[in-house]
Amino acid sequence: MTSISNEKNDIETRPTSPPSPDPTQAPRINGSRWDQRYSQEAWSEIPDPELVDLAKPLKPGKALDLGCGTGRNALWLAGQGWSVTGVDSSYVGLSQAMARARRLSLSLELLHLDLTEYVPSIGQYQLAIIANLHFGEPMRTGLFEIAKSSLEIGGYLYFLGRHKDSVGHRGPSDPDLLFTEKELRDRLTGFEIVLISRADRNSSSERPAPTNVIGWAKRVG
Ligand SMILES: C[S@@+](CC[C@H](N)C(=O)[O-])C[C@H]1O[C@@H](n2cnc3c(N)ncnc32)[C@H](O)[C@@H]1O
Repeated sequence: MTSISNEKNDIETRPTSPPSPDPTQAPRINGSRWDQRYSQEAWSEIPDPELVDLAKPLKPGKALDLGCGTGRNALWLAGQGWSVTGVDSSYVGLSQAMARARRLSLSLELLHLDLTEYVPSIGQYQLAIIANLHFGEPMRTGLFEIAKSSLEIGGYLYFLGRHKDSVGHRGPSDPDLLFTEKELRDRLTGFEIVLISRADRNSSSERPAPTNVIGWAKRVG
């Protein structure tokens, strides 16, 4: 794992595993696809409007943004007084998040690692975020387990992902990577579901509007 921190206004690299003579045992952090994408196109800096509405009434605490990318949601939360940990395998994305945090004089803890190898602090967070992560199995189940276990009782999970009805629009073309309201509901066992709904994004003449599944649920057990 590599940790990038701007607590000291610096990028800190902290490998936790010694170099391994066996390459198959070496830490695998492959963010190259997203590194390339973030290097080539500017990612949105705007937080999800649904997250803004849902999290605004909460008392700021500790938030975990899984696959935080360039940090648009993490930075909005940090600006509201949350202490935010962002996790992502793209060093380029995390570096962009860090640069923006510095410009905004905000603090983020950013962890450069692969989510398949991440074990969060259990029951430590008041908010966990899964936004735009379209994984297949077994990572998909693992992702929800990480988010759910990271939350204290009473903590909230925010979810946003492309709806299966959006197949062929923007986002993944494989329907197995997309979501439905039912799947999200089924994955949120042990949680009180406050909201599961569809949310349409703006369309343009060239690009049809994608539909997302939004979820907001509270850990009760
Ligand atoms: C579509 S972007 C979403 C970024 C952010 N959540 C947002 O909504 O703006 C997907 C992100 O997941 C990250 N990601 C993909 N696979 C990952 C993995 N195995 N471990 C950690 N991050 C991963 C990518 O690097 C990328 O930043």
